[in-house]
Amino acid sequence: MVTVGVVGLGDMGGGMVERLLDAGASVHGWNRTAAKAAPFAQRGMHVAASPRALAEAVELVIVMVTDNDALEAVFEGDDGILAGIRPGMIVAEMSTTSPTLVRELGERVAARGATLLDAPVSGSIQTLREGNLLIMVGGDRAAFERVESTLLAIGPRVRHIGELGQAKALKLAANLQLAVQTLAFSEGVLLAEKMGVDRRVAVETLLHSAIASPQLQYRARFIVDPPDHAWFTPKMMQKDVQLALDLGREVGVPLPTSATTQELLTAARSMGFAHEDFAVVFHALAAMAGIARDPASVPEYARDAVTA
Ligand SMILES: NC(=O)c1ccc[n+]([C@@H]2O[C@H](COP(=O)([O-])OP(=O)(O)OC[C@H]3O[C@@H](n4cnc5c(N)ncnc54)[C@H](OP(=O)(O)O)[C@@H]3O)[C@@H](O)[C@H]2O)c1
Repeated sequence: MVTVGVVGLGDMGGGMVERLLDAGASVHGWNRTAAKAAPFAQRGMHVAASPRALAEAVELVIVMVTDNDALEAVFEGDDGILAGIRPGMIVAEMSTTSPTLVRELGERVAARGATLLDAPVSGSIQTLREGNLLIMVGGDRAAFERVESTLLAIGPRVRHIGELGQAKALKLAANLQLAVQTLAFSEGVLLAEKMGVDRRVAVETLLHSAIASPQLQYRARFIVDPPDHAWFTPKMMQKDVQLALDLGREVGVPLPTSATTQELLTAARSMGFAHEDFAVVFHALAAMAGIARDPASVPEYARDAVTA
């Protein structure tokens, strides 16, 4: 494995550091909120003073931050990753961000003699901890082969997709379907419920039918048994759906079901469901169908926010 640095020690970046340390890698890390680095430092991670200092110290920089704005913030400026890049090194941008932005950054990284790979992930914090994350990689194949064993320490399924930006596109193709499937499932459950079928019976029966995708098999149950924390909030889901809609507009692919789902996610946030898992889109649609939400269906941690 190469010497690796992780920029962004949130849920996913922090989980990646844990797995890299477990695998015996030499790991450097930087986080905007410095206090979040402390638990990893105790386990042996070297804390960098800035993204630039981190880039100067490693062979592979992994970036795992929230969105496009965060990505630009850690790349740009005197203390940014770009300022610390040396010829021959590799940067893997693993956040869910725009394929177009990653291509622009790729040109700037290449101008400094280094290589940018896009390496978004499919899975959750739990999937990452369990060692089941899927990593899709776009960009130069030789660079990919140099860092493949390091990426394999993070997740066991690492696939080279094609050119820079193509892995991001595939990630968005997957995530838009998480949202659309969840909304379509909600429509079906509510149709049955309006005909008198018990909600739990409708959910369980549909989950034994041909439409039950792997993600619906865990997420659809959140309609009747919400988790004790949000796995992926409406806001996070909207960020990904918006990236897909923007890309669709750019390349000329209409995404009608994604557009509709985006509106329902907005409704869910407006009803005060913003802190729950995005499966709560069910309750936004239920409200539109005239079915008031049972207060008992609101998880304890989200009770103060709910307005519908
Ligand atoms: N969570 C999942 O299940 C999941 C699954 C697949 C992909 N993803 C993607 O993975 C990425 C990270 O998700 P996450 O769950 O790890 O999110 P998170 O826990 O909220 O962590 C976000 C990280 O981004 C940093 N950040 C945000 N804005 C920044 C800025 N302007 N400048 C510098 N750093 C900034 C945060 O720093 P601070 O600590 O200072 O706020 C934090 O380290 C996202 O693109 C997400 O869509 C997440």
